[in-house]
Amino acid sequence: MKKLIIGNWKMYPAELKSAREKFTAIKKVAGTLKNVQTVVCPPFVFVGDLKKLAMGNRCTLGAQNAWIAKDGAYTGEVSPAMLASMGINYVIIGHSERRELGETDELINKKVVAGVKAGLMVVLCVGERERDVDGEYLKYIANQIRLALVGVSKKDLSNLIVAYEPIWAIGKNATHSATADDALEVSILIKRSLSYLYGKEGSAVPVLYGGSVDAKNGADILEKSQIAGLLVGRASLDPAVFGEILRGVEKIKQ
Ligand code: PGA
Repeated sequence: MKKLIIGNWKMYPAELKSAREKFTAIKKVAGTLKNVQTVVCPPFVFVGDLKKLAMGNRCTLGAQNAWIAKDGAYTGEVSPAMLASMGINYVIIGHSERRELGETDELINKKVVAGVKAGLMVVLCVGERERDVDGEYLKYIANQIRLALVGVSKKDLSNLIVAYEPIWAIGKNATHSATADDALEVSILIKRSLSYLYGKEGSAVPVLYGGSVDAKNGADILEKSQIAGLLVGRASLDPAVFGEILRGVEKIKQ
């Protein structure tokens, strides 16, 4: 199985020219790698332009969000069907920065359902704000998964990926990433939660890790925790660093 490395550009960069330069540089590295599927998720407004630069399928494009309906009177929103019609096949749903803006478990559930039904690969983000010695955070994550997947059927699972993104490890206020052991522990929990909901098909859903992934820790976390890939924020905006992560992952023995 190819490893899946997704770059979440968040609301960067501020200019199209820079987005083109970054994407071109990333694509150059990603295009040489046999064992890695690279996906770049730029701001919506750049997706169509960058899609024209994408060649082959080793480096594709995704979106950071999508709405719950195919079309309609929803000013400012973008639908999964629109993304699919442009050949965009991945969408991040439930990122903690969007939950912070007010997205509830209920809304995220509707977005997950709309995304999988439109045929997109939905990258559902889950993760605790902080850890506690009693392991309450594990229940919190299991509950996030349960709530996000109401109405998602067994046959929709081939369109689902779950990304473990502990909030304490994300972004520039984070002091450190999770360890490979942290990622392994939670990936087991995620797989158990999914197999509780869906049987053995549930545990086949790929699990990613995200939060302060960089060139030093990326391949190491991935290899030691035996997860399917990484969701990379800040480091994906620096093509040299992101390229190093991609090359490091390429070298992991299958
Ligand atoms: P970070 O962000 O890699 O900058 O910590 C990860 C994410 O928000 O997906």
